[in-house]
Amino acid sequence: MRLHLLSLLVLPLFAAAHTEEQMVLPGAGKEPFEPVVYSGKPLLADLLTIESTASIFFSYARELEISQIFSDPNARSTVLVPTNKAIIALPRKPHEDSHPLDGGVVLSEAEFDAMSKKNVERWVSAHIIPKSPISLGTDGEYETLLSGKNVTFTVAKGDANKPEWTRALLDDSVRLIGMKEASNGVMYLLDGTVKLD
Ligand SMILES: *[C@@H]1O[C@H](CO)[C@@H](O)[C@H](O)[C@H]1NC(C)=O
Repeated sequence: MRLHLLSLLVLPLFAAAHTEEQMVLPGAGKEPFEPVVYSGKPLLADLLTIESTASIFFSYARELEISQIFSDPNARSTVLVPTNKAIIALPRKPHEDSHPLDGGVVLSEAEFDAMSKKNVERWVSAHIIPKSPISLGTDGEYETLLSGKNVTFTVAKGDANKPEWTRALLDDSVRLIGMKEASNGVMYLLDGTVKLD
């Protein structure tokens, strides 16, 4: 939470500094040096930080070490980001175990925390394809960061005038409802989630 708040505070500051820098360096032709103009796209970490419709996914992900790839400028990832609505609709939450314990088995708090973290890690990993960009114009299968877990994309009917990704179906059922490009990857917003067994 602290990190999240900090990012919200710091991002506008960067924006302000950027504006000031431009104002201090007018008249490109007269300057002895080319003014440094920030032209790069934001990192996935920045996009995820400000994506309010998908804040639950990032609140799970940023607790994990794998979330470092979102701020690694040299990584290239495709992140499949379920909206808050899609996560709230899940019958079983990402930290909950798919194999309920037999009655009578009591976990210590530490055991429960470790199990929850492992479940969240598996779930988040299944939403990250360690490759970007990927082509959504044809049917395809991609490995995720969860070992042994692939996702598929199929091309569904739709408006041919719209971008390819608007017609892609994830695992035959989930629609992509948004796309944002980062300097280190692409994020797609999902109206569902990647299912684990
Ligand atoms: C996952 O997809 C890759 C191709 O991208 C394929 O080589 C691999 O066998 C698939 N793995 C599983 C578990 O289906």
